[in-house]
Formats: sequence, C-alpha cells, structure tokens
Amino acid sequence: MSPTESAITLTVNGARRTVRVSPSTTLLEMVRTRLELTGSKECCAEGECGACTMILDGEPVNSCLVLAVETDGSEVTTIEGIGGAGMTPLQESFLTAGAIQCGFCIPGMVVAATALLERIPRPTESEVREGLSGNLCRCGGYSRISAAVMAVAGGNAAT
Ligand code: FES
Ligand code: FES
Repeated sequence: MSPTESAITLTVNGARRTVRVSPSTTLLEMVRTRLELTGSKECCAEGECGACTMILDGEPVNSCLVLAVETDGSEVTTIEGIGGAGMTPLQESFLTAGAIQCGFCIPGMVVAATALLERIPRPTESEVREGLSGNLCRCGGYSRISAAVMAVAGGNAAT
C-alpha cells in the first residue's frame, strides 16, 4: 500500500468490500478500476451528466464527485446491483418503450429512476422528469425514457 493510501470498508451491491484508495480516488474510479464494476460510466467527470449515478446510503449521487474515502462504512448500489440475475420491471420497460439508443446514459438513468421510484412510488410525469433532470441523454431519448418509468410507476415495480 502506498503511504498515501488508506483502506476503507463498504458494502457494494450487498457485499462487504475492503479497498485501498488514495485521498483523491473517486467513488466512480474505485468501483470501475478496483472493483471492476464497469457498468457505471464516466463521461463529464464533473457532475453534469449523471452517467456515473450510483445510490449511496439511499440517495442517488454523481459518483465522479464523491471521494472514495468518504464512503467508508457506507452502502453503495451500482447498476450491477439492480435486478440481480434478471432485469427489473423498470429495465424491461426501458426495452419495451424503445428508450435505449446508444445506451451510454442508460445505467445512470436506470439507477436514478430506481432511486426515484423508491422515494416516490407513484410519481407524476413532471416528478419523473425532475427526478431524472440530472441525467443527460445525448441521443435525446427523454420522452421514451420518461414513458418507460411512467409505465412501471404505481406498483413500486423497480424494487
Ligand atoms: S461522469 Fe459523473 S456526472 Fe458526468
Ligand atoms: S441512449 Fe444514447 S446517450 Fe442516452
């Protein structure tokens, strides 16, 4: 371990993990490079696009802005932790609605929408748009993404 690194222990997708990180390592970098969970994407790396969205202690966060050392003792859910062996109804709905174009934004969208539906099981369309406002889709698929979330809203189907 380098002198500047420290060991942190956190729960990622239900599994307890101990990782050595430097003070400047972000949560996104740690998850992608140390834990080899590459579903969360890095795009802007400055909190503007939501491609890196993870759920940290119940709240969606831009993991590119969170320092890994700050997550010691925390619980993190990444896109790999959603759905287990199969897809959730929300993920199925993204497919059914044709909401996936290039797909780059979709992990962050699914994580953000999952957190939204846990917080508001029956969101209005404006609440869905507001809840996903931090997630950018360069393909412009907002209408279908919103429709996909609305299609499962009501039964807390994303959990
Ligand atoms: S990569 Fe984190 S918000 Fe864009
Ligand atoms: S589907 Fe391409 S960026 Fe959203």
